[in-house]
Amino acid sequence: MTPLCFFLMCLVAANSLCYGQPAGANYDEARVPAYVLPDPLLCNDGTLVTSAAEWWSKRRPEILRLLEQEVYGRTPAAKKLEIVKIERKARTALNGKAQCKEVTLEYASGDERVTMTILLYLPRVRRGPAPLFLGLNFNGNQSVHADPEILLTQVWMRNDSLSGVFNHRASDKTRGVEARRWPVEMIVERGYGLATIYYGDLDPDFDDGFKNGVHPLYYGQGQTRPAEDEWGAIGAWAWGLSRAMDYLAKDPAINSRQVAVIGHSRLGKAALWAGAQDQRFALVISNNSGCGGAALSKRIFGETVERINTHFPHWFCDRFKRYNGREQDLPVDQHFLLSLIAPRPLYIASAEQDRWADPKGEFLSAQAADPVFHLLGNAGLNADALPAVNVPVGGGLRYHIRTGKHDVTDYDWQQYLDFADRCFKKKAAKAAFK
Ligand code: GCU
Repeated sequence: MTPLCFFLMCLVAANSLCYGQPAGANYDEARVPAYVLPDPLLCNDGTLVTSAAEWWSKRRPEILRLLEQEVYGRTPAAKKLEIVKIERKARTALNGKAQCKEVTLEYASGDERVTMTILLYLPRVRRGPAPLFLGLNFNGNQSVHADPEILLTQVWMRNDSLSGVFNHRASDKTRGVEARRWPVEMIVERGYGLATIYYGDLDPDFDDGFKNGVHPLYYGQGQTRPAEDEWGAIGAWAWGLSRAMDYLAKDPAINSRQVAVIGHSRLGKAALWAGAQDQRFALVISNNSGCGGAALSKRIFGETVERINTHFPHWFCDRFKRYNGREQDLPVDQHFLLSLIAPRPLYIASAEQDRWADPKGEFLSAQAADPVFHLLGNAGLNADALPAVNVPVGGGLRYHIRTGKHDVTDYDWQQYLDFADRCFKKKAAKAAFK
């Protein structure tokens, strides 16, 4: 190998390590193929939706069905599970600013069980029930804050010696490693609560043929894995968000009509899918969710359907693999997912260097869903072109592309908190935002 070749290889590797952008993908707008997006307002029988009533009775159920069948897989119908709840005594945290408690919920069906622990922060001084952000975390609840009292997650976790995960178990070294992405103090000071759960509680993120996690609780007689149109891991993570909502809805300290569901990256995909299926989520936030999240698949920019299905074969339903290399045949695209959230407020956030997640594809997807938001009375996005960096646009469907890489930053949180203020808190802010 010549020194020049070696240098170039190092450059590519460094770029992909820094920005999480594997080489070999298309990052060139000129190579985006011509594509036609299906119209979210055009029914399967060719009629156009012109009223909110038609949307709710006819088109919305069609879109939900298509996404269940072709992309995420159907979440099984509600089933009576045994539920055991262990609620630990609330304690004062964050230098007296918050009340913190941990609630463990165990769901069982026959011999199968899944256990999730919700870490919950609420502002200690509240005028009434607190509005709240709910989101899954990547590294265990103890990674969200350095507080040594937070229970250490005991379940499977991807090995990462730098962060303190050895033999697939979190060590004390993982305490606070994700704190940068969860500015709990800022959230609580702004009058919001925060609830978070380790996503591996619902389904550990590796391809084990769906033996662990929540799937077995729903297997029929003799079933050993989900059918080709049944849920994958993203469906399981979204299921967990809805079960957390069941719990939060019963807590009088929380305003259950003001719960925002939020997620970053793969957990942004899960937040969108949870928000689409479960209308109790009053606001939905997708942070850099990319392929299979907010970004359009048909653009073939950054991560593709084939790549995501190959590297993460357990995330979607098996039928989604039919579209590997055949995005043009998809009867849906990700703007359909966004349209299911209307008319509830939705925030889509991208990052400039996160080309793997296709920021422009995330914006175009919001734009393509905009007619549905307008039809249902949401002020919508109303943006003709990708905005400049760090200039959020839109009304009740909001978008920003910030400088920097694939991550969740304080800048992102400041926008989400302002948006939440406008959507369901302060009257003055609400007026300014219309
Ligand atoms: C990978 C994957 C993305 C995902 C991301 C993440 O990069 O390809 O689809 O969003 O991981 O969850 O961090």
